[in-house]
Amino acid sequence: MGINSIIIGTGSAVPEKVLTNAELEELVDTSDEWITTRTGIKERRIATGETNSQLATEAAQKALEMAGVKPQELDLIIVATLTPDMPMPSVACLVQKELKARKAGAFDLSATCSGFLYGLAVADKFVKSNRRAKILVIGSEVLSQRINWEDRTTCILFGDGAGAALLTGTKEDRGILSTHLHADGSLWELLTIRGLGTAHPLNQEVLDKGWQYIQMQGRDVFKHAVRALESVAWEALKANSWTSDDIDLLFSHQANMRILDFLRERLGLDQDKVFINIHKYGNTSAASIPIALDEANRSGMLKPGMKILMVAFGGGFTWASAAMRW
Ligand code: ACO
Repeated sequence: MGINSIIIGTGSAVPEKVLTNAELEELVDTSDEWITTRTGIKERRIATGETNSQLATEAAQKALEMAGVKPQELDLIIVATLTPDMPMPSVACLVQKELKARKAGAFDLSATCSGFLYGLAVADKFVKSNRRAKILVIGSEVLSQRINWEDRTTCILFGDGAGAALLTGTKEDRGILSTHLHADGSLWELLTIRGLGTAHPLNQEVLDKGWQYIQMQGRDVFKHAVRALESVAWEALKANSWTSDDIDLLFSHQANMRILDFLRERLGLDQDKVFINIHKYGNTSAASIPIALDEANRSGMLKPGMKILMVAFGGGFTWASAAMRW
């Protein structure tokens, strides 16, 4: 019998500051009604001093505590993020330092909103070759620093936060059953932070064009997101010989309530089978699925044997799935 990866602990952390739709009405020409009907978002958390690595560390500590695992037992820390504290070192190395996880390797992974599922796929491969491996997969973002707070088409959508999952191996018939990763780099310009990397370093032109901020062709992204999420969901179901009726709980990247509704309808799922927390956090990119997973786990929604499907889509474009038996 093979080795499967199981999640033995989850954790999450969000900044204290809540930014409501009413507060956004003061910043840009928008309304609670527009934001709610177009996106489902009511409020989001915004870092006011908390760094990405601090949020990631807090989420990691909670996951370790839940599992009763000491940081010194960790073999690897993977942080999925597009908003690291700094280009060097990685957020994962800063988390490793804070946890004093001396044995652990550490690296960041860049796959935008699909990053947590990309991280799970990588961790799963490690665990399959070492059943006792203990690996933290974290999704953590401080997107608020890369948002133009004068651009109403983007500033209403995003929030900050971190979520973590602790993986190890088992010979039992449960855990991660499949992962599928996809990308289409030809569409990168539809959703990008063009500036402040090596292609467009800090200069007046970058500032004038607002390239330090997220820029998004919202309608095009929406179209691609719904198509990709649906196809990656069917792909995962087929790979596991599941039908959509088999899904006990769907965790989709929390980008937009309308995307979540579309996906639910296409898969023919009842409302209670789709986990939703977008109203509280907005789109937290790589953190969205692990925060959702932790909330579901801590609230007792996840029962042994449940069939779980996770799907994500983001800039790049990237999209991915992970199917699990809890
Ligand atoms: N408040 C009020 N009006 C607004 C706002 C706002 N915040 N933003 C845009 N509008 C206006 C527009 O100017 C436009 O006005 P016009 O008709 O006079 O030109 C009108 O509302 C409609 O704008 P659209 O952009 O067509 O609105 P749409 O229904 O497409 O909703 C949205 C915009 C919410 C961004 C949607 O396109 C969307 O969710 N796209 C997908 C984004 C996404 O999921 N991204 C995440 C995936 S990747 C990642 O997570 C990083």
